[in-house]
Amino acid sequence: MKNVKTFKKMKKDSQKIVMVTAYDYPSGKFVQEAGVDIILIGDSLGMVILGYEDTLKVTLEDILHHTKAVKRGAENTFIVADMPFMTYNLSIEQTKVNAALLITEGGANSVKLEGGKPSRLDAIRAIVDCEIPVVAHLGLTPQSINVLGGYRVQGKNKVEFNEILDQAKEIEKAGAFMLVLEGIPEELGKKISESLSIPTIGIGAGKFTDGQVLVYHDILGMTDFKPKFVKRYAVLNKDIPISIKHFVAEVKDRNFPSEEYIYNPIIKEEK
Ligand code: KIV
Repeated sequence: MKNVKTFKKMKKDSQKIVMVTAYDYPSGKFVQEAGVDIILIGDSLGMVILGYEDTLKVTLEDILHHTKAVKRGAENTFIVADMPFMTYNLSIEQTKVNAALLITEGGANSVKLEGGKPSRLDAIRAIVDCEIPVVAHLGLTPQSINVLGGYRVQGKNKVEFNEILDQAKEIEKAGAFMLVLEGIPEELGKKISESLSIPTIGIGAGKFTDGQVLVYHDILGMTDFKPKFVKRYAVLNKDIPISIKHFVAEVKDRNFPSEEYIYNPIIKEEK
């Protein structure tokens, strides 16, 4: 299994790192079979699995439940579990307990949290101090949408650009081993990736980051909305209902089950 050291070396050797989200046993199995380097149990599960509008209602129990299932399907792949909204914001003690649960009970190898302000750096330092590898997340951080005023590209003006760049440098100093960069201009993704020795993983951050991450359901075309940065490699939001419709029609028309799907079928006698 790849690990924090492997990822650092991959950056040094200019080898791209691939992260994909997974949320259950089959998706974990599929992404492992496909050869991804890292699986993320993202709090995006709030939207793509649980049908919420955003990630804010996702709980630690939700992430734990889904991490355990993914782990059963992908035992040989490095797993990062997202720390949900307000599970690393209240106290350092609570932050450490919550991060530890994702490792000890969930089976994750690392945790991810959003933001780069001083209190987040304290949280990163505290978790790393417990020997738990941390992935940080900057730019368009979905747990802050109410403060950011929606899902907007971050770092477009000089002030924001420099603020995010500075936070990225502080995050590396705080001990995170990897940084996810979401929804930022390509120039900022490039600048941060060149400035840090830890790998950066982009989602809507251009082509210069050390790796890329996409949400499982976006890759497979299972969602209705397609942001600009998403490339669909399948169109399951069409194929799934078509397949089920086919089944419905065949049952109604008495075409299913045909003989080949029946145990000891009653064969009509030839006249
Ligand atoms: O929750 C998630 O899936 C994420 C990725 C978009 C990076 O944080």
